[in-house]
Amino acid sequence: MSTIGNSSETAARILRQGGIVALPTETVYGLGGNALDVSAVAKIFAAKQRPEFDPLIVHVPDTEHARQYVTHFPPLAERLAARFWPGPLTLVLPKRDIIPDLVTSGLPEVGLRVPAHPLMQQVLRLAELPIAAPSANLFGRISPTTAQHVAEQLADRVDYILDGGPCAVGVESTVLQLTDKPRLLRPGGVSLEELESLIGPIEVVSSTDDPGRRAQVAPGMLPQHYAPNTPLQLIEPGTIPDTFPPEKRIGLLRFSNSACLPVAAEEILAPTASDQTAAANLFAALRRLDSLGLDLIIAELLPEQGLGRAINDRLRRAAAR
Ligand code: TXA
Ligand code: MG
Repeated sequence: MSTIGNSSETAARILRQGGIVALPTETVYGLGGNALDVSAVAKIFAAKQRPEFDPLIVHVPDTEHARQYVTHFPPLAERLAARFWPGPLTLVLPKRDIIPDLVTSGLPEVGLRVPAHPLMQQVLRLAELPIAAPSANLFGRISPTTAQHVAEQLADRVDYILDGGPCAVGVESTVLQLTDKPRLLRPGGVSLEELESLIGPIEVVSSTDDPGRRAQVAPGMLPQHYAPNTPLQLIEPGTIPDTFPPEKRIGLLRFSNSACLPVAAEEILAPTASDQTAAANLFAALRRLDSLGLDLIIAELLPEQGLGRAINDRLRRAAAR
């Protein structure tokens, strides 16, 4: 039985002993284990019920450590790391043999990230290990942005849950492949615009690409993901109807704070009209609506810009059945 606590020493000790620990990051909570220990990594896949074809991100305390796990850290990576690390950006680069194949699902590349959360930074420095960590949810479910969310799904399956409060960013890291020309594999906490303003045009692997092609270029980016139990219907930005089928209990997830609508429940993600606030609230709001036993959740998409791209990606995959 796991316990929730706030001791980074305890978390680091368990990690050094080969255990698995839920850890706070600025994006979402991760389920961490020693990335160099195949049996710890296997425990992560088992606890999440995650298929082994979906590779894990390896977390390190700084750029210097990141360089140790790749055969080549190109100048582009240096520039991106200098600007965005620590932060919600994962760089996919050719791995050294020391990273077990299980971590990367047999791929020759590893996703590396330097997380910004101070408790996670402490754990990385105390444990002196690279930490493999997918989001700390059961496979295919909504990612956790509080320790309580983790406990609801994984309490009996992890050795410890380190509580670092609610996650500030609220959507997962942006995954950028740098092996060849830069390619966006997953939109996330650093926007495409921010990346392009530093390094120029980036090829986008769209979440609406055909799944076969996407599975080849962006492993793990399954169309069905982040799924609530309640059916989810998406509507275009600014097209919220003012009448709803009266026989259905409907929950509404939207961004703007306009007139009260005749629905059973409502979550307004960004009362301040900032996409940062919307991202930070997204998963918790989706969970709250999903806990109400509604017939349908209707969610409004955002314009495809800034963090709107990451939010829409998560909503589209949550709606895919
Ligand atoms: O913000 C985040 O990235 C969070 C926190 C915990 O750091 N982690 C996270 O991990 O979202 P996860 O496992 O839920 O998503 C990792 C995704 C994989 O599904 C895959 O799409 C991509 O990152 N990825 C990881 N390693 C990769 C690799 N070697 N090549 C290509 N894509 C990779
Ligand atoms: Mg995940």
